[in-house]
Amino acid sequence: MVQLSRGALALAASILPQFVNGAGLNTAAVAKGQLYFGTATDNPELTDTSYVTQLSNTDDFGQLTPGNSQKWDTIEPSQNTFSYTKGDAIANLAEANGQKLRCHNLVWHSQLPSWVSSGTWTNATLLAAMKNHITNVVTHYKGRCYAWDVVNEALNEDGSYRESIWYTTIGPAYIPIAFATAAAADPDVKLYYNDYNIEYSGSKATGAQNIVKLIQSYGAKIDGVGLQAHFIVGSTPSQSAQASTMAGYTNLGVEVAITELDIRMTLPSTDALLAQQKTDYSNTVAACLATKGCVGVTIWDWTDKYSWVPNTFSGQGAACPWDENYAKKPAYTGILTALGGTAIATTTTTTRSSTSSTSTTTSGSTATGVAQHWAQCGGSGWTGATTCVSGYTCTYFNDYYSQCL
Ligand SMILES: *[C@@H]1O[C@H](CO)[C@@H](O)[C@H](O)[C@H]1NC(C)=O
Repeated sequence: MVQLSRGALALAASILPQFVNGAGLNTAAVAKGQLYFGTATDNPELTDTSYVTQLSNTDDFGQLTPGNSQKWDTIEPSQNTFSYTKGDAIANLAEANGQKLRCHNLVWHSQLPSWVSSGTWTNATLLAAMKNHITNVVTHYKGRCYAWDVVNEALNEDGSYRESIWYTTIGPAYIPIAFATAAAADPDVKLYYNDYNIEYSGSKATGAQNIVKLIQSYGAKIDGVGLQAHFIVGSTPSQSAQASTMAGYTNLGVEVAITELDIRMTLPSTDALLAQQKTDYSNTVAACLATKGCVGVTIWDWTDKYSWVPNTFSGQGAACPWDENYAKKPAYTGILTALGGTAIATTTTTTRSSTSSTSTTTSGSTATGVAQHWAQCGGSGWTGATTCVSGYTCTYFNDYYSQCL
């Protein structure tokens, strides 16, 4: 055993600021009242020990989502034969780390085994197969999930129902029936409708609101709407647009979460694209933080090394807050700053009642103000306060980011 002196410990802390308790995305999110900041992951990556070390860092990640291993083709590859090994591996990891689990997903048009997608069905037989799947899977994971994405991507871009095997055979009733079946299997887990391009107002967001209302009209339980937020650098909706769209859902009595956030760019990545990506990440996280009822943000994996984007969108990538070598990108700073609050510039106006003159005292212009605990206090391009409020030290992380700790 090596005994470290107090001085050595202080030195270790100062040169390893990333290990300072509270410095990460999840800790900052929880300090602001959110339930978690989390990430998706997938089974093949779990052989990469460096990857797993950061995945398990609860300063940054308080929640995991299995990217693929709870989907229908993995869990029920042939009818009524259930295979939970891969899904359990991620559930077990989350539990070992003390991380929440978002479970994903039960009913979707994609990644279905052929016995479902190419089967010969009647309304009654397909409903029975759907209910059997939901009941088995939700029962298996009962007590282990914070939430289930019960129905995924049921809408076309114009807000009409997607022509999936579910819709064409059962009709829109498959949605409330799926929610009622999940609720019967685990009355405590949060039940979500999850989709993309419902983060800004328009026909599809209206369609998602209509799904909430449809489920409620059947007397079934729906607890949340998941906004996937697979965005493109430079064309993500503004913070206020995202916040007002979220309010459209929470006004119906459900919570919301950002469930699959990533922000891709056309490669190669440049400093300008990375700076815009930082702004874009910050806007989405800030919109969630500003929305009562937005419980947390999940990124769709944390490193570009394992992002789904390059395999799906030709010529695009660099969508995650960490690069393929596990270095933090400016986007990381953008998220952390949005969660920790930027330097507060306060202006105090004093009116002297004894005379008619008015003097203005600026107690915190961005150049001279103090940054609050957790706030950014330095970094390339930073024009805000560089001193911290009493009791905290401006701590260097990297060239892009220093924080009051
Ligand atoms: C299928 O059956 C369910 C449950 O009875 C019903 O709600 C739904 O409308 C039916 N769909 C069709 C297309 O008949």
